[in-house]
Amino acid sequence: MSVKRTLFTVGPVEVRKEVLDAMTRPMITHRSKDYEKLQEGIVEKLHQTLDTDMQIIMSPSSASGLLEACVRNGVKRRMMGLSNGSFGDRWQSIGEENGKEVVKVNGEWGKALRPDDMLSHLDASVEAITVVANESSTGVLNPVKDIAKAARKENDALVFVDGVTAVYGTDLKIDDLGIDALVFGTQKALALPPGLAIMCLSDRLLEKAKEVPYRGYYFDLLQMKKMADKHYSLTTPPVSLMYALDFQLDRILEEGVQARYRRHREMGDLVRRWASERLGLFAEPGFYSDTITVIDRKGLDFSKLNKGLKEKGYEISNGYGAIKETTFRIGHMGDLTVDEIKGLLEAMDEVMEAM
Ligand SMILES: Cc1ncc(COP(=O)(O)O)c(C=O)c1O
Repeated sequence: MSVKRTLFTVGPVEVRKEVLDAMTRPMITHRSKDYEKLQEGIVEKLHQTLDTDMQIIMSPSSASGLLEACVRNGVKRRMMGLSNGSFGDRWQSIGEENGKEVVKVNGEWGKALRPDDMLSHLDASVEAITVVANESSTGVLNPVKDIAKAARKENDALVFVDGVTAVYGTDLKIDDLGIDALVFGTQKALALPPGLAIMCLSDRLLEKAKEVPYRGYYFDLLQMKKMADKHYSLTTPPVSLMYALDFQLDRILEEGVQARYRRHREMGDLVRRWASERLGLFAEPGFYSDTITVIDRKGLDFSKLNKGLKEKGYEISNGYGAIKETTFRIGHMGDLTVDEIKGLLEAMDEVMEAM
């Protein structure tokens, strides 16, 4: 049996015991009235907490499944993938693996993507643009609204946003973005176990899907939407996880969504202050993520720090992708509190002093 550690990781993240307990309710079948009520209630609370009128579907997969669904349903031939980190690169690969021609627009890691970066590459043949809101490998929050606005001005490409580590930790003001898809999963700022992905989507994307052949079965948005309209899932959903989601959405409503965003900002500020005084921040100022801070190691022995922290009951995350060996990451999202963050930072000081 492993020692209980509090996760200050980038996902899966810490899940409260009462949320885990909600998963132990008796099983129901997914074509029953009880299930219908469960899904209908969840979708209503998703709309309420996300403050959006976009349509919502859920998928019994991790978030990558719905990132793939965007490409399979929204692109016949040519798309543009914006990237300034590992997860931007990943979505470009997903496009290519699905046989699409991908115009790659790659910005510098650690710097935010600017609309100007992509404008010269945009032409009428680009059917969709993919962009990551919160780049989990660098700790940069990209200016999605400006990017979507610029895209709309130049052509009528669909805009797909990876909101995996942004949604529920950052107020994206979804309906102001003018986007066609926003994808996220349960194991990040929603503070639930992994296993369910959620997408806010536009009518434009559904209309486009009608023209795109070979959408596949599992991620066919038209079939998924048809079932979602009846409060059902196309394939068997993770019912236990949905109990927890239902419970967690009540907790979020109780805290207040804006209070949740403020707490994330406060936690992010604390971690950033700690990091900039001792080591350095990887992300450029003005585009900091409020869910993940990526810290320059500056020669610090991360495995020693990590080992010391684990002995004290804390877990943080390694760097990722091309900057794996030169950075490490602290996740400050979900249900973590400001006091827990202070406890982590004190523990980090103690371990670093003893190193
Ligand atoms: C920004 C971002 N996009 C996509 C993913 C992939 O999500 P999943 O593992 O749920 O498929 C992650 C996972 O860490 C992520 O941080």
